[in-house]
Amino acid sequence: MPIKNGVIMQDFYDFVQSRRSVRNYREKLISRDQITRILAAGMWAPSAHNAQPWRFFVLESIEKKRQLAEAMGALFRRDLEKDGETAETIELVVNESIERFSTAPLLVLVCLSMDTMDEYSDERRQQAEFVMGVQSVAAAIQNILLAAHAEELGACWFCAPLFCQGIVQETLKIPSDVYPQALIALGEPAESPLTPPRRRLEEIVVFDSEK
Ligand SMILES: Cc1cc2nc3c(=O)[nH]c(=O)nc-3n(C[C@H](O)[C@H](O)[C@H](O)COP(=O)(O)O)c2cc1C
Repeated sequence: MPIKNGVIMQDFYDFVQSRRSVRNYREKLISRDQITRILAAGMWAPSAHNAQPWRFFVLESIEKKRQLAEAMGALFRRDLEKDGETAETIELVVNESIERFSTAPLLVLVCLSMDTMDEYSDERRQQAEFVMGVQSVAAAIQNILLAAHAEELGACWFCAPLFCQGIVQETLKIPSDVYPQALIALGEPAESPLTPPRRRLEEIVVFDSEK
């Protein structure tokens, strides 16, 4: 295995593979230093035009986390009712969601701002530009997850805010042109999740020589 900048490359691949989505955390708070290092890693992700369209809203206080969790939960409940789920299931699922977000030691809401992205007069290119913004934000999120792993913290990417962007903006007083993309929950791990299987590489890769 090659050695680059003192890092054995195998260690890098093992590190990437050993990151898991951790959904249960100890009650211990995360230090500001750790949060800063993790978010700085997010900031070093690649972005289209180097526009760095990510915005991070850090929720540390119990009140704010619960306020957001309950606001999102209210819409989640209405959606499940529309789906025709039983009252019992709705109660269970919505309460679980509220508890998960309220009790996580730290929540980072990751948003997309189109402020620094290019503007086009036609829908086709504007749509592509928006997707590039989303892709850039996703790259930042992955850096954050890896940084949390490096800090031996557990983290999970939650898509809930995407389903209730307006409510999240309203609750956290975020401008309407800053689009919530994901919530990342972070904390000291209180579980060691099993490794969800991956597809075999041969199923998802096509080499031109095989065609
Ligand atoms: C875009 C995206 C959205 C996700 N949303 C959720 C979610 O809402 N709830 C959740 O428990 N996990 C969520 N996850 C985590 C995935 O379930 C997890 O990455 C996948 O099962 C593989 O497990 P691993 O991360 O431990 O390798 C999300 C991951 C991504 C990339």
